[in-house]
Amino acid sequence: MSRVVLALETSCDETAVAILCGHGGVMSHLIASQADIHAQYGGVVPEVASRNHLAILPGLVGEALREAGLAPAAIDAFAATTGPGLAAALLVGSSAAKGLALGAGKPFLAVDHLEGHMLSPFFGESTIPPHVALVVSGGHTLLFDVSGHGQYVLLGRTVDDAAGEAFDKVAKMLGLGYPGGAEIDRLAREGDPKRFDFPRSMIGSGDGNFSFSGLKTSVRYFLEKGFAPDDLPDICASFQEAVVDVLVAKLLAAAKARGRDLVAVSGGVSTNRRLGEKLEKRCGQAGLTWRAARPELRADNALMIAYAASHRVERPSPIGADVRPNFDPGLFSNALR
Ligand code: KG4
Ligand code: ZN
Repeated sequence: MSRVVLALETSCDETAVAILCGHGGVMSHLIASQADIHAQYGGVVPEVASRNHLAILPGLVGEALREAGLAPAAIDAFAATTGPGLAAALLVGSSAAKGLALGAGKPFLAVDHLEGHMLSPFFGESTIPPHVALVVSGGHTLLFDVSGHGQYVLLGRTVDDAAGEAFDKVAKMLGLGYPGGAEIDRLAREGDPKRFDFPRSMIGSGDGNFSFSGLKTSVRYFLEKGFAPDDLPDICASFQEAVVDVLVAKLLAAAKARGRDLVAVSGGVSTNRRLGEKLEKRCGQAGLTWRAARPELRADNALMIAYAASHRVERPSPIGADVRPNFDPGLFSNALR
């Protein structure tokens, strides 16, 4: 019998609610973005984010239940992102899900945001195939070997900035607003990726780690020398090419090292068009298959949290499970088993 999970996502600046039946029956999928509110500050303000989650969430849960045509009693489990993310923001979603679970006498499921991203390319499927996963978001750049649901080996991560963070910081230097990844992607489409040579740090380091802070600094020094507005597309394309080259090279090297013929990309940066183009080409040459989540599951959303939870409805979390704002490699693997 298919179980119905209601999931909440409030780790950063999107307030999201989803109701999922089984592994792929979408009954509701709502996202209220606060991006416009935070854009005026040039980044996410934690206190503002949590206050907005608190204001938006009750109405959004009601809307989701109405859309699904369900009463809380008809939900089999209540899930929430419990980390990583902003502590006060995580607390809103996880406390709400715990309250709903207690009120309805149903289990609570604590879900890791990064597991949500990582599994999103397989949305709708009842099993997770063996693959190498690249999670590229605003706060994280992680490489995992996945043998199945709950069986994850962390192969590497960024030693400084995340890939999305590099996009956002460079966008800010270029005066493109926050978050600027999508805008760089858009401008880069008209640009020449070979015009400027930016560093591909750690591309041949032989491990699964990444570094994007040197690239960001290199772009900063370059811009300090002055540039013409007409150069903007070429700068965006050249910077983006450097990020994408590293991401693809590391992902493919990891697949080879682990003997996997399937790779998957997830998180906000997986929306990047050039990343998709390069994966298509390089995976084709290497005889690999690649997967990304459907577009509406790439940025933060609650459906990916519900999907991750749908694989372990039978193994609820303690109602006292605390939020975990920081990424902890040890905790990550334990929390997922
Ligand atoms: O996964 P996500 O929505 O939130 C986090 O968990 O962080 O990722 C947001 C990140 C931001 O850094 C944003 O600039 C980046 O994803 N992003 C992109 C694109 N769309 C969003 N980066 C590059 N190209 C894009 N098209
Ligand atoms: Zn995310």
